Amino acid sequence: FTPLRDLAASKGIAFGFAVDPSRIRADVAYRDVVAKQANLLVPENALKWAEVHPDPDRYEFGPVDDLVAFARDHGQRTRGHTLCWHRAMPDWLGQVGRDRAEAVLTAHIRTVVGRYRGRMMSWDVVNEAIEPNDGLGGGLRDSFWYRMLGPRYLDIAYAAAHDADPQAVLCYNDYGLEADSPWSERKRGAVLDMLRGLRRRNVPVQAIGLQSHLRLGEAQRIGPGLTRFIHAARDMGLAVYVTELDVDDSAFDGRGDRDGAVADTYKRYLDLVLGTGAVSAVLTWGVWDPDTPHRIGATPQGAFAQRPLVFGREGALKPASWVVAHCLERA
Ligand code: G3I
Repeated sequence: FTPLRDLAASKGIAFGFAVDPSRIRADVAYRDVVAKQANLLVPENALKWAEVHPDPDRYEFGPVDDLVAFARDHGQRTRGHTLCWHRAMPDWLGQVGRDRAEAVLTAHIRTVVGRYRGRMMSWDVVNEAIEPNDGLGGGLRDSFWYRMLGPRYLDIAYAAAHDADPQAVLCYNDYGLEADSPWSERKRGAVLDMLRGLRRRNVPVQAIGLQSHLRLGEAQRIGPGLTRFIHAARDMGLAVYVTELDVDDSAFDGRGDRDGAVADTYKRYLDLVLGTGAVSAVLTWGVWDPDTPHRIGATPQGAFAQRPLVFGREGALKPASWVVAHCLERA
Protein backbone atom coordinates (compact mmCIF):
# COMPACT_ATOMS: atom_id res chain seq x y z
CA PHE A 1 0.00 0.00 0.00
CA THR A 2 1.81 3.12 -1.21
CA PRO A 3 1.60 5.91 1.38
CA LEU A 4 -1.08 8.41 0.39
CA ARG A 5 1.39 11.29 0.83
CA ASP A 6 3.55 9.81 -1.96
CA LEU A 7 0.65 9.15 -4.34
CA ALA A 8 -0.61 12.70 -3.74
CA ALA A 9 2.81 14.34 -4.04
CA SER A 10 3.39 12.63 -7.41
CA LYS A 11 0.35 14.60 -8.65
CA GLY A 12 1.33 17.86 -6.95
CA ILE A 13 -1.38 17.41 -4.35
CA ALA A 14 -0.98 17.69 -0.58
CA PHE A 15 -2.66 14.95 1.44
CA GLY A 16 -3.07 14.89 5.18
CA PHE A 17 -5.07 15.02 8.36
CA ALA A 18 -6.50 17.19 11.07
CA VAL A 19 -4.48 16.04 14.07
CA ASP A 20 -4.42 16.34 17.85
CA PRO A 21 -0.87 17.49 18.71
CA SER A 22 -1.03 15.94 22.18
CA ARG A 23 -1.90 12.56 20.66
CA ILE A 24 1.10 12.73 18.32
CA ARG A 25 3.26 13.00 21.44
CA ALA A 26 1.41 10.32 23.41
CA ASP A 27 0.31 7.64 20.91
CA VAL A 28 3.03 5.87 18.92
CA ALA A 29 0.66 4.18 16.44
CA TYR A 30 -1.07 7.52 15.76
CA ARG A 31 2.26 9.27 15.31
CA ASP A 32 3.48 6.59 12.88
CA VAL A 33 0.38 6.75 10.67
CA VAL A 34 0.53 10.55 10.62
CA ALA A 35 4.23 10.49 9.69
CA LYS A 36 3.80 7.84 7.03
CA GLN A 37 0.60 8.88 5.27
CA ALA A 38 0.52 12.70 5.37
CA ASN A 39 2.50 15.57 3.91
CA LEU A 40 0.17 18.28 5.26
CA LEU A 41 -1.15 18.61 8.81
CA VAL A 42 -3.68 20.93 10.47
CA PRO A 43 -4.32 21.11 14.23
CA GLU A 44 -7.97 20.13 14.74
CA ASN A 45 -8.53 22.48 17.68
CA ALA A 46 -5.24 23.90 18.95
CA LEU A 47 -5.34 27.10 16.89
CA LYS A 48 -8.90 28.04 17.79
CA TRP A 49 -9.26 31.06 20.06
CA ALA A 50 -10.48 29.03 23.06
CA GLU A 51 -7.30 26.93 22.99
CA VAL A 52 -4.61 29.27 21.69
CA HIS A 53 -5.81 32.49 23.40
CA PRO A 54 -7.67 31.34 26.52
CA ASP A 55 -7.21 34.60 28.45
CA PRO A 56 -6.81 38.18 27.20
CA ASP A 57 -3.09 38.22 28.01
CA ARG A 58 -2.28 34.51 27.66
CA TYR A 59 -1.48 32.51 24.50
CA GLU A 60 -0.89 28.74 24.52
CA PHE A 61 1.45 27.92 21.63
CA GLY A 62 2.99 24.71 23.03
CA PRO A 63 0.90 22.15 21.13
CA VAL A 64 1.22 23.94 17.78
CA ASP A 65 4.94 24.57 18.30
CA ASP A 66 5.28 20.78 18.80
CA LEU A 67 3.19 20.05 15.71
CA VAL A 68 5.18 22.43 13.50
CA ALA A 69 8.43 20.85 14.72
CA PHE A 70 7.07 17.33 14.11
CA ALA A 71 6.00 18.32 10.58
CA ARG A 72 9.39 19.86 9.85
CA ASP A 73 11.13 16.68 11.05
CA HIS A 74 8.94 14.54 8.76
CA GLY A 75 9.08 16.64 5.59
CA GLN A 76 5.51 17.77 6.08
CA ARG A 77 3.83 21.17 5.84
CA THR A 78 1.23 22.62 8.19
CA ARG A 79 -1.80 24.87 7.77
CA GLY A 80 -3.64 27.01 10.31
CA HIS A 81 -7.28 26.68 11.40
CA THR A 82 -8.93 29.14 12.23
CA LEU A 83 -8.65 32.86 13.01
CA CYS A 84 -12.25 34.10 12.72
CA TRP A 85 -15.14 31.78 13.62
CA HIS A 86 -18.37 31.93 15.61
CA ARG A 87 -17.49 28.82 17.66
CA ALA A 88 -14.66 27.84 20.05
CA MET A 89 -14.53 31.37 21.41
CA PRO A 90 -13.13 31.95 24.92
CA ASP A 91 -15.49 33.49 27.50
CA TRP A 92 -13.38 36.65 27.86
CA LEU A 93 -14.27 37.74 24.32
CA GLY A 94 -17.78 38.34 25.64
CA GLN A 95 -16.42 41.38 27.49
CA VAL A 96 -15.01 42.90 24.29
CA GLY A 97 -17.24 45.65 22.90
CA ARG A 98 -17.40 47.34 19.51
CA ASP A 99 -14.87 49.94 20.60
CA ARG A 100 -12.10 47.35 21.13
CA ALA A 101 -13.14 44.57 18.72
CA GLU A 102 -10.94 45.55 15.79
CA ALA A 103 -7.87 45.98 17.99
CA VAL A 104 -8.48 42.63 19.72
CA LEU A 105 -9.03 40.78 16.43
CA THR A 106 -6.00 42.26 14.66
CA ALA A 107 -3.74 41.77 17.69
CA HIS A 108 -4.77 38.08 17.88
CA ILE A 109 -4.18 37.51 14.19
CA ARG A 110 -0.86 39.37 14.11
CA THR A 111 0.37 37.45 17.19
CA VAL A 112 -0.73 33.99 16.06
CA VAL A 113 0.01 34.26 12.32
CA GLY A 114 3.21 36.17 13.03
CA ARG A 115 4.53 33.43 15.28
CA TYR A 116 4.28 30.86 12.51
CA ARG A 117 5.32 33.20 9.69
CA GLY A 118 6.74 31.13 6.81
CA ARG A 119 5.66 27.85 8.47
CA MET A 120 1.92 27.74 7.73
CA MET A 121 1.40 27.14 4.00
CA SER A 122 -2.16 28.45 4.38
CA TRP A 123 -4.63 29.75 6.97
CA ASP A 124 -8.38 29.42 7.31
CA VAL A 125 -8.62 33.13 8.11
CA VAL A 126 -12.43 33.13 8.19
CA ASN A 127 -14.48 29.97 8.75
CA GLU A 128 -18.22 29.50 8.05
CA ALA A 129 -19.17 33.17 7.55
CA ILE A 130 -22.15 32.38 5.27
CA GLU A 131 -25.52 31.41 6.74
CA PRO A 132 -28.35 32.57 4.43
CA ASN A 133 -30.97 31.68 7.09
CA ASP A 134 -29.68 34.57 9.21
CA GLY A 135 -31.21 36.96 6.71
CA LEU A 136 -28.29 39.40 6.76
CA GLY A 137 -26.95 41.11 3.63
CA GLY A 138 -24.91 38.86 1.38
CA GLY A 139 -25.99 35.77 3.28
CA LEU A 140 -23.57 36.59 6.08
CA ARG A 141 -23.94 34.76 9.38
CA ASP A 142 -25.08 36.75 12.41
CA SER A 143 -21.85 36.08 14.33
CA PHE A 144 -19.88 37.79 17.07
CA TRP A 145 -17.44 39.46 14.68
CA TYR A 146 -20.27 40.56 12.39
CA ARG A 147 -22.09 42.15 15.30
CA MET A 148 -18.90 43.84 16.46
CA LEU A 149 -17.57 45.13 13.14
CA GLY A 150 -20.17 44.53 10.41
CA PRO A 151 -19.20 42.90 7.08
CA ARG A 152 -15.80 44.58 7.09
CA TYR A 153 -14.57 42.11 9.73
CA LEU A 154 -13.62 39.93 6.77
CA ASP A 155 -11.49 42.67 5.18
CA ILE A 156 -9.86 43.38 8.54
CA ALA A 157 -9.04 39.71 9.23
CA TYR A 158 -7.51 38.94 5.84
CA ALA A 159 -5.49 42.17 5.80
CA ALA A 160 -4.09 41.47 9.28
CA ALA A 161 -3.18 37.89 8.34
CA HIS A 162 -1.49 39.02 5.12
CA ASP A 163 0.52 41.66 6.96
CA ALA A 164 1.65 39.04 9.47
CA ASP A 165 2.64 36.44 6.85
CA PRO A 166 2.64 37.59 3.21
CA GLN A 167 3.68 34.09 2.05
CA ALA A 168 0.74 32.23 3.55
CA VAL A 169 -2.16 31.36 1.22
CA LEU A 170 -5.18 32.94 2.90
CA CYS A 171 -8.26 30.72 2.69
CA TYR A 172 -12.01 31.06 3.19
CA ASN A 173 -13.37 27.78 4.62
CA ASP A 174 -16.99 26.61 4.70
CA TYR A 175 -19.32 23.57 4.68
CA GLY A 176 -22.55 22.61 2.91
CA LEU A 177 -21.14 23.38 -0.54
CA GLU A 178 -20.74 19.78 -1.76
CA ALA A 179 -24.06 18.13 -2.62
CA ASP A 180 -26.24 19.62 -5.39
CA SER A 181 -29.42 20.94 -3.78
CA PRO A 182 -31.39 24.20 -3.84
CA TRP A 183 -29.94 24.99 -0.42
CA SER A 184 -26.31 24.43 -1.41
CA GLU A 185 -26.83 26.36 -4.67
CA ARG A 186 -27.97 29.31 -2.53
CA LYS A 187 -24.99 28.99 -0.22
CA ARG A 188 -22.55 28.52 -3.12
CA GLY A 189 -23.86 31.71 -4.74
CA ALA A 190 -23.49 33.69 -1.52
CA VAL A 191 -19.95 32.36 -0.99
CA LEU A 192 -18.89 33.27 -4.52
CA ASP A 193 -20.49 36.73 -4.27
CA MET A 194 -18.71 37.36 -0.97
CA LEU A 195 -15.38 36.23 -2.42
CA ARG A 196 -15.86 38.36 -5.54
CA GLY A 197 -16.52 41.37 -3.30
CA LEU A 198 -13.38 40.74 -1.29
CA ARG A 199 -11.28 40.31 -4.43
CA ARG A 200 -12.76 43.50 -5.91
CA ARG A 201 -11.63 45.35 -2.80
CA ASN A 202 -8.16 43.82 -3.16
CA VAL A 203 -8.65 41.87 0.06
CA PRO A 204 -5.92 39.15 0.07
CA VAL A 205 -8.03 35.97 -0.03
CA GLN A 206 -6.37 33.37 -2.26
CA ALA A 207 -8.07 30.02 -1.58
CA ILE A 208 -11.38 28.41 -0.79
CA GLY A 209 -11.66 25.45 1.58
CA LEU A 210 -14.47 22.97 0.93
CA GLN A 211 -14.86 21.32 4.33
CA SER A 212 -16.39 18.26 2.60
CA HIS A 213 -18.31 16.76 5.52
CA LEU A 214 -20.15 14.23 3.34
CA ARG A 215 -23.18 12.20 4.18
CA LEU A 216 -23.77 8.59 3.12
CA GLY A 217 -27.23 9.22 1.68
CA GLU A 218 -26.04 12.14 -0.46
CA ALA A 219 -23.52 10.37 -2.68
CA GLN A 220 -25.80 10.53 -5.71
CA ARG A 221 -26.19 14.33 -5.27
CA ILE A 222 -22.47 14.94 -5.76
CA GLY A 223 -22.60 16.22 -9.30
CA PRO A 224 -22.32 18.97 -11.92
CA GLY A 225 -23.22 21.85 -9.58
CA LEU A 226 -20.12 21.14 -7.53
CA THR A 227 -17.95 21.00 -10.65
CA ARG A 228 -19.34 24.38 -11.76
CA PHE A 229 -18.72 25.82 -8.30
CA ILE A 230 -15.09 24.65 -8.22
CA HIS A 231 -14.53 25.97 -11.76
CA ALA A 232 -15.96 29.35 -10.69
CA ALA A 233 -13.58 29.50 -7.74
CA ARG A 234 -10.65 28.51 -9.95
CA ASP A 235 -11.65 31.11 -12.54
CA MET A 236 -11.44 33.76 -9.81
CA GLY A 237 -7.83 32.72 -9.32
CA LEU A 238 -8.49 30.91 -6.04
CA ALA A 239 -6.71 27.74 -4.96
CA VAL A 240 -9.20 25.04 -3.95
CA TYR A 241 -8.65 22.81 -0.93
CA VAL A 242 -10.65 19.87 0.49
CA THR A 243 -10.11 20.73 4.13
CA GLU A 244 -12.19 18.49 6.47
CA LEU A 245 -13.17 15.38 4.51
CA ASP A 246 -15.18 12.73 6.33
CA VAL A 247 -18.43 10.79 5.84
CA ASP A 248 -21.36 10.86 8.25
CA ASP A 249 -22.74 7.32 7.92
CA SER A 250 -25.70 7.77 10.27
CA ALA A 251 -28.07 7.33 7.30
CA PHE A 252 -26.79 3.77 6.78
CA ASP A 253 -29.91 1.65 6.37
CA GLY A 254 -28.48 -1.46 8.01
CA ARG A 255 -28.53 -3.40 4.73
CA GLY A 256 -25.47 -4.32 2.69
CA ASP A 257 -21.91 -3.33 3.29
CA ARG A 258 -21.40 -0.21 5.42
CA ASP A 259 -17.68 0.08 4.67
CA GLY A 260 -18.36 -0.30 0.95
CA ALA A 261 -21.01 2.41 0.99
CA VAL A 262 -18.62 4.75 2.80
CA ALA A 263 -15.83 3.95 0.36
CA ASP A 264 -18.16 4.65 -2.55
CA THR A 265 -19.01 8.06 -1.13
CA TYR A 266 -15.31 8.92 -0.87
CA LYS A 267 -14.75 7.67 -4.41
CA ARG A 268 -17.61 9.61 -5.93
CA TYR A 269 -16.56 12.83 -4.22
CA LEU A 270 -12.82 12.60 -4.81
CA ASP A 271 -13.22 11.53 -8.46
CA LEU A 272 -15.30 14.64 -9.08
CA VAL A 273 -13.22 17.21 -7.18
CA LEU A 274 -9.84 15.83 -8.29
CA GLY A 275 -11.22 15.56 -11.83
CA THR A 276 -11.52 19.36 -11.98
CA GLY A 277 -7.73 19.63 -11.75
CA ALA A 278 -8.26 22.62 -9.44
CA VAL A 279 -7.91 20.89 -6.06
CA SER A 280 -4.38 21.01 -4.63
CA ALA A 281 -4.91 19.68 -1.10
CA VAL A 282 -7.04 16.94 0.47
CA LEU A 283 -7.25 16.71 4.26
CA THR A 284 -9.45 14.32 6.23
CA TRP A 285 -10.93 15.50 9.50
CA GLY A 286 -9.03 13.03 11.63
CA VAL A 287 -6.55 10.22 11.08
CA TRP A 288 -8.51 7.00 11.55
CA ASP A 289 -12.03 5.86 12.55
CA PRO A 290 -13.18 7.37 15.85
CA ASP A 291 -12.58 5.03 18.79
CA THR A 292 -15.80 5.98 20.52
CA PRO A 293 -18.96 6.18 18.43
CA HIS A 294 -20.41 9.63 18.92
CA ARG A 295 -24.10 10.43 18.37
CA ILE A 296 -24.43 12.76 15.40
CA GLY A 297 -28.18 12.33 15.26
CA ALA A 298 -30.61 9.52 16.08
CA THR A 299 -30.04 6.90 13.40
CA PRO A 300 -32.84 4.68 12.02
CA GLN A 301 -31.47 1.69 13.87
CA GLY A 302 -30.80 3.76 16.98
CA ALA A 303 -27.13 2.82 16.66
CA PHE A 304 -24.49 5.46 17.15
CA ALA A 305 -23.22 7.14 13.99
CA GLN A 306 -19.56 7.25 13.21
CA ARG A 307 -17.64 9.60 10.97
CA PRO A 308 -15.64 6.86 9.24
CA LEU A 309 -12.38 8.13 7.82
CA VAL A 310 -9.93 6.72 5.32
CA PHE A 311 -8.16 4.37 7.73
CA GLY A 312 -9.54 2.01 10.32
CA ARG A 313 -8.48 2.15 13.94
CA GLU A 314 -4.73 2.11 14.54
CA GLY A 315 -4.33 2.84 10.82
CA ALA A 316 -5.83 -0.42 9.58
CA LEU A 317 -6.47 -0.55 5.83
CA LYS A 318 -10.10 -0.74 4.80
CA PRO A 319 -12.04 -0.27 1.53
CA ALA A 320 -11.89 3.54 1.83
CA SER A 321 -8.08 3.39 2.10
CA TRP A 322 -7.77 1.65 -1.28
CA VAL A 323 -10.41 3.86 -2.87
CA VAL A 324 -8.65 7.05 -1.84
CA ALA A 325 -5.33 5.66 -3.04
CA HIS A 326 -6.85 4.91 -6.46
CA CYS A 327 -8.45 8.36 -6.64
CA LEU A 328 -5.09 9.99 -5.96
CA GLU A 329 -3.39 7.75 -8.54
CA ARG A 330 -5.95 8.77 -11.15
CA ALA A 331 -5.83 12.49 -10.28
O1 G3I B 1 -10.12 19.90 25.42
C1 G3I B 1 -11.30 20.24 26.15
C2 G3I B 1 -11.33 19.51 27.48
O2 G3I B 1 -10.24 19.97 28.28
C3 G3I B 1 -12.65 19.78 28.18
O3 G3I B 1 -12.71 19.03 29.37
C4 G3I B 1 -13.81 19.39 27.25
C5 G3I B 1 -15.16 19.65 27.89
O4 G3I B 1 -15.45 21.02 27.82
O5 G3I B 1 -13.72 20.16 26.04
C6 G3I B 1 -12.53 19.87 25.35
O6 G3I B 1 -12.51 20.66 24.19
C7 G3I B 1 -13.38 20.16 23.17
C8 G3I B 1 -12.55 20.08 21.90
O7 G3I B 1 -13.37 19.71 20.79
C9 G3I B 1 -11.41 19.09 22.01
O8 G3I B 1 -11.96 17.78 22.13
C10 G3I B 1 -14.51 21.15 23.01
O9 G3I B 1 -15.34 21.09 24.14
C11 G3I B 1 -15.30 20.78 21.76
O10 G3I B 1 -16.25 21.81 21.50
C12 G3I B 1 -14.35 20.70 20.56
O11 G3I B 1 -15.13 20.31 19.43
C13 G3I B 1 -14.48 20.59 18.18
C14 G3I B 1 -15.41 21.51 17.37
O12 G3I B 1 -14.87 21.70 16.05
C15 G3I B 1 -15.55 22.87 18.04
O13 G3I B 1 -14.29 23.50 18.08
C16 G3I B 1 -14.29 19.26 17.46
O14 G3I B 1 -13.31 18.48 18.16
C17 G3I B 1 -13.82 19.52 16.04
O15 G3I B 1 -13.78 18.29 15.29
C18 G3I B 1 -14.78 20.47 15.32
O16 G3I B 1 -14.25 20.73 14.05
C19 G3I B 1 -15.01 21.63 13.24
C20 G3I B 1 -14.04 22.53 12.47
O17 G3I B 1 -13.20 23.21 13.38
C21 G3I B 1 -14.80 23.50 11.58
N1 G3I B 1 -15.71 22.76 10.67
C22 G3I B 1 -16.64 21.86 11.37
C23 G3I B 1 -15.85 20.84 12.18
C24 G3I B 1 -16.75 19.79 12.82
O18 G3I B 1 -17.63 20.39 13.71
